[in-house]
Amino acid sequence: MKRSRIIATGMSVPDCVVDNHLLARCLKTSDEWIMQRTGIKERRVSPDTFRMLLRLADAPDKERFVRELYDQGLDGKLDSTLMVADLALEASRRALGRAGLRPEDVDLIVDSTTFGDYAYPGTAAVLGAKLGLTTTPTIAMNQGCAGSVYALATGDQFIRSGMCRRALVVGAELLSPFFEFSDRGRDMCVLFADGAAAVILEAVEGEDPPGLISHHLHTDGTLLEKLYGEMFGTSTYPPVSKKKIDDDRVRPRMSGRAVYVHAVRRFKEVIGECLAANRVTIGDIGLYLFHQANMRIIETIANQLSIPMERTFNNIAKYGNTSAASVLICLHEALEAGRLRRGDLVMMVAFGTGFSWGATLMRW
Ligand code: ACO
Repeated sequence: MKRSRIIATGMSVPDCVVDNHLLARCLKTSDEWIMQRTGIKERRVSPDTFRMLLRLADAPDKERFVRELYDQGLDGKLDSTLMVADLALEASRRALGRAGLRPEDVDLIVDSTTFGDYAYPGTAAVLGAKLGLTTTPTIAMNQGCAGSVYALATGDQFIRSGMCRRALVVGAELLSPFFEFSDRGRDMCVLFADGAAAVILEAVEGEDPPGLISHHLHTDGTLLEKLYGEMFGTSTYPPVSKKKIDDDRVRPRMSGRAVYVHAVRRFKEVIGECLAANRVTIGDIGLYLFHQANMRIIETIANQLSIPMERTFNNIAKYGNTSAASVLICLHEALEAGRLRRGDLVMMVAFGTGFSWGATLMRW
């Protein structure tokens, strides 16, 4: 039997830490509101977002500051100092380093990123270039917060089919530049943050070898307006315009209540599906790695399915929601913390825009 096994992990988050108190100096929110509803205490953001927030916190007229930001850029500059592929590169280098591999030793790169460095090509190609690769195939996915499990499933299929032996699978996000840190944007800007993680998948053969066992993926696009962004898409003509900004159509949109309800429902369904497909029970799973959307969502699922919280690993308090990176960052940190033991069953579960969701079962 052929499977793929995770032989190394790596992660990268920006150095700049934004706690809830700094956000409360920029817009109408509070540490208490954010902690109570989401469990987020602080998050990492790009140096540009950080610089902008420090300026915004001190700005006497915040509305004017935000307007000027979109009119003129930050301090009259438009070029950013950190792109999402830079985070992906750092995470990938760390994973490659742990595996003792060079970039050329990998046959495929799969990356999921919600907002890329460019409208095109996708971040996977930009990452390949930064790794110095000129012929290695790359697959750029845009699966939102479900990106980690979709990217893992995709890399795994290429290995199982025999098309490649090793794959670099990455979830990378630089989300903070896309949110409006204003009163009207407060429902989303306090949740999302920046970070990346990478894993190296390698083919393994044998009778029931350790590695990725099964993936269970789903999408319901009929609910896309509950969590979506128009920024530079063909939903408007022209796709980019000043009018689009003036009409407030470049801001990401979310119906928090709907996301909450559907996330809880789909998480529970797909966990059940994954358990049933593998004829195992809740108690057989050694560790659950859930997408770090919101601590309340995680606690509700754990409570309703009788999953002991000790069998989950959560770091949303310090990183916020890093979308496609979150489950892989959890995997990396859980591994570092000694939470994964050889032979353990580990379930990774994610839900996000689309709505897309999925679960992956692996034996460590
Ligand atoms: N700070 C302070 N007040 C806020 C903030 C904020 N950051 N954001 C919204 N509010 C206000 C609202 O304006 C509203 O005020 P009003 O009553 O005067 O109108 C009040 O708080 C309550 O708003 P609700 O949306 O009803 O708040 P709710 O209790 O539902 O909590 C939340 C909002 C946390 C977003 C919740 O709906 C939730 O957890 N949803 C899940 C969404 C999620 O986790 N998304 C993550 C991204 S998607 C993903 O990764 C799967």
